[in-house]
Amino acid sequence: MKILLLGSGGREHALAWKIAQSSKVEKLYIAPGNAGTSSVGENVAMKADDFEAIRGFVLHNGIDMVVVGPEDPLVKGISDYFKADAALCTVPVIGPLREGATLEGSKEFAKCFMQRHNIPTAGYKSITKENLQEGIDFLHTLKAPYVLKADGLCAGKGVLILPTLEEAEKELREMLDGMFGNASATVVIEEFLSGIECSVFVITDGNSYKILPEAKDYKRIGEGDKGLNTGGMGSVSPVPFADKEWMKKVEARIIRPTVEGLKAEGIDYKGFIFFGLINVDGNPMVIEYNVRMGDPETESVMLRIKSDLVDLFEGVAEGNLADRNIEFDERSAVSVMLVSGGYPEHYDKGFEITGLDNVTDSIVFHAGTAVKDGKVVTSGGRVIAVSSYGKDKNDALARSFESAGKINFEKKYFRSDIGFDL
Ligand code: AMP
Ligand code: GLY
Repeated sequence: MKILLLGSGGREHALAWKIAQSSKVEKLYIAPGNAGTSSVGENVAMKADDFEAIRGFVLHNGIDMVVVGPEDPLVKGISDYFKADAALCTVPVIGPLREGATLEGSKEFAKCFMQRHNIPTAGYKSITKENLQEGIDFLHTLKAPYVLKADGLCAGKGVLILPTLEEAEKELREMLDGMFGNASATVVIEEFLSGIECSVFVITDGNSYKILPEAKDYKRIGEGDKGLNTGGMGSVSPVPFADKEWMKKVEARIIRPTVEGLKAEGIDYKGFIFFGLINVDGNPMVIEYNVRMGDPETESVMLRIKSDLVDLFEGVAEGNLADRNIEFDERSAVSVMLVSGGYPEHYDKGFEITGLDNVTDSIVFHAGTAVKDGKVVTSGGRVIAVSSYGKDKNDALARSFESAGKINFEKKYFRSDIGFDL
């Protein structure tokens, strides 16, 4: 089988690494990929949301399946584009149609969906300029801190958590006035939930689903979860509090109602569903849906899937996922992100990365890297995910930290406390 994987981050390198291990794969292309993905497949200089270029490539190269890494092409309707095209409609896309992708593309849609299907989530109100006063009244009924979410996609930056009512009111007005452009023309105000977060992933063919290994990610730049939000500084799988009993609740109260709810509403969903959960006094609640895998969770989760990922993708494409098997690796897996100094604010790019070949005890996934004059250089804020197995979390972390020390580039930074709260 010839597979085209779309995307260019650490998540895509991890997916590519796992896909390439399948005996069903004859050729793997990654578009656009990064300096790491070219070690497990062939990079194609094509943007992940350039549908016309993708069309041409798929037809010209006889691609049998397209796997979508990031949310952007999905929210823009890449699956619909394939479905509507006479020449492409037989090529399965792993990733939902636009309607299903709205679970991530619109916070308001996601909240309404959860309400319709009694899926536990924070109380909320959806506000536009027209009903601003309702929003202010709602804020007055809540306790601090206050959660404001831009309805649309904001590259992970659309959520504000504000300590005072005054600030919440001010930011609400600014969001509605275009702080995030059109994405914040509607703002979801949510009740603040207190607890520890966990990312749960499933893959579904629209009827049945398989639960993948769960993970916890670390979003803040500083140790002890302090400082600015980032795209993710590391991840750990398994998550100790996500034990059998807790996962049973997750499946009964959240996963099953979601998959069945999509089906009942006639939303044909084929792909990953990422449940961003929070554990509130032992009860899982949904913070957000994403319609793709998480980053940097994927860099741990892929290590823990023993079975052939492409076999699961085939199950999704053929609608017989129920007949496929998923087996987990019982070991722990962790991932530590090496980032550019200054990130998530200003940082410089183009620094040479050395020492990659000295890493023997970890798996190195590239995130923001490129090849320049034959050298691997930094090309983003998050540069390299160093993933490791271990008999437990600490054992795996020790490996990743040791490997992290062997990789060098100017102003390298990483958090040395990943997993500290588990
Ligand atoms: P989201 O983009 O919806 O995942 O929100 C980003 C982050 O904000 C989440 O990972 C949580 O840490 C936090 N957050 C979002 N919604 C809530 C909430 N209702 N209560 C507490 N924290 C929240
Ligand atoms: N790690 C969170 C995300 O991918 O959105």
